Amino acid sequence: MAELHSDAVGQLIEWAGTESDEVLNDMELRAEEEEFPTVGAEVGRTFALCTRLLGAQSVLELGSGYGYSAYWIAQTLPDDGTIVLTERDSELLGDARTYFERGNLSERAVFKHGDALEIAENCTDSFDLVVLDHDTADYIPGFDIARGLVDPGGAILIDNVAIYEEILTPEELLATLNGETPPNERTRTVAEFFNHLKNDTAFETYILPVGEGLAISYRTQ
Ligand SMILES: C[S@@+](CC[C@H](N)C(=O)[O-])C[C@H]1O[C@@H](n2cnc3c(N)ncnc32)[C@H](O)[C@@H]1O
Repeated sequence: MAELHSDAVGQLIEWAGTESDEVLNDMELRAEEEEFPTVGAEVGRTFALCTRLLGAQSVLELGSGYGYSAYWIAQTLPDDGTIVLTERDSELLGDARTYFERGNLSERAVFKHGDALEIAENCTDSFDLVVLDHDTADYIPGFDIARGLVDPGGAILIDNVAIYEEILTPEELLATLNGETPPNERTRTVAEFFNHLKNDTAFETYILPVGEGLAISYRTQ
């Protein structure tokens, strides 16, 4: 897989960070065996960091799979904190529930089966942090729903914004943002999403070169 930084930097990030627990290790092995696209440990750690720095108590994730990224966040939430996981595949969501039970984190989690956008649209409470890791093609509607759920001082984290296999590269994304014709649909979609973020003056967006590229949109107003 393409990387946004050298192997050595990746190893440094891993070396300095907290170690994955046994449950996370199992989830990581499963991702390797099944080639399941979890966010990976680097982004997982960054999610945990953002949760801590924001002092987040309430988190919503759009697209939770079997709970890998949500588990990193849940570990850093306070005891009375909550993360809402959303997933359209009921088997994956059931597995997430099992992993959370193994890690004694169930009390911090709410598992919601169905379309993540619909679930988010029906949320009445606001969240300190919202994570977007659902289909890239739906990032703009996902962000627009999420922004209505985050108050100033909260943030939205968006995974997979800089590289994806051979069809999204930072070079081609940048060229598209500078007015060139996008080479493929994914690059076009992500470029449109970048412009959408840039035009949203209620948020300041930072791109971190971890995993496949992580956008952090912090709500300032
Ligand atoms: C890239 S995987 C990542 C899962 C998880 N965040 C992790 O790091 O392991 C994305 C997941 O989102 C789910 N998903 C994508 N779009 C969705 C939607 N609109 N509603 C519910 N689930 C969705 C997919 O089924 C998949 O399991």
